[in-house]
Amino acid sequence: MECNTVSLINTKPDKVNLRLKKLSADDGHDIYDMLQSMPKDENGLVNKANGLSYEDFKTWLAAKQKESEQTCLVDGWKVPSTTYWLYADTFPVGFGNLRHFLTEALSNAGGHIGYGIAPQYRGKGYGKELLRLLLIEAKKIGLEKVLITIHSDNIASQKVALANGGVITKKTEERVYIWIESSSTRC
Ligand SMILES: CC(C)(COP(=O)(O)OP(=O)(O)OC[C@H]1O[C@@H](n2cnc3c(N)ncnc32)[C@H](O)[C@@H]1OP(=O)(O)O)[C@@H](O)C(=O)NCCC(=O)NCCS
Repeated sequence: MECNTVSLINTKPDKVNLRLKKLSADDGHDIYDMLQSMPKDENGLVNKANGLSYEDFKTWLAAKQKESEQTCLVDGWKVPSTTYWLYADTFPVGFGNLRHFLTEALSNAGGHIGYGIAPQYRGKGYGKELLRLLLIEAKKIGLEKVLITIHSDNIASQKVALANGGVITKKTEERVYIWIESSSTRC
């Protein structure tokens, strides 16, 4: 681990420059390394890059970039989505997926936005900031309201959504459904 990474782990988000960077086929080792540190599937957040070789990761990136440029269903079923990396200064610390529209399946599980922070950076406020920045991107693509579906036992994620103006509209045994008006997000 680099020295700067260690100091970042101990730094609160208000002390660093946080920004989103759209996934690109040109992304490299910093993103690859971060994705290897994040589980393949955690609370429904899927990280398909975990376990890939670097070469396969580059192929995956290119496919993801292409997918985000689609305007209708990909392969007849997949809603196009854009992935954003959260950078704290020069280090990637998490990522978010923004789905461009909902299907019936996504209305039930998945919603518009999924997000994750690399385990070593959790509990410092990065999750809340990541969602705030993703809501700004949602507004830019015309989504006035976004749905986030969260496992009932995922308290950290529910706190992230509620801190960003989320309103719980439904609860089932499995999931909590939270809607957020993107226009209420502070820039
Ligand atoms: C959910 C997640 C993004 C939160 O990121 P984070 O950077 O730790 O979040 P924050 O530091 O902004 O903390 C948000 C709140 O959750 C609380 N929190 C953090 N980890 C927690 C935990 N394990 N249990 C309970 N609360 C927790 C924080 O104390 C904070 O609460 P507060 O508002 O009372 O201060 C992160 O835990 C993660 O990546 N989880 C795995 C993937 C995932 O579950 N994604 C969401 C799918 S819907």
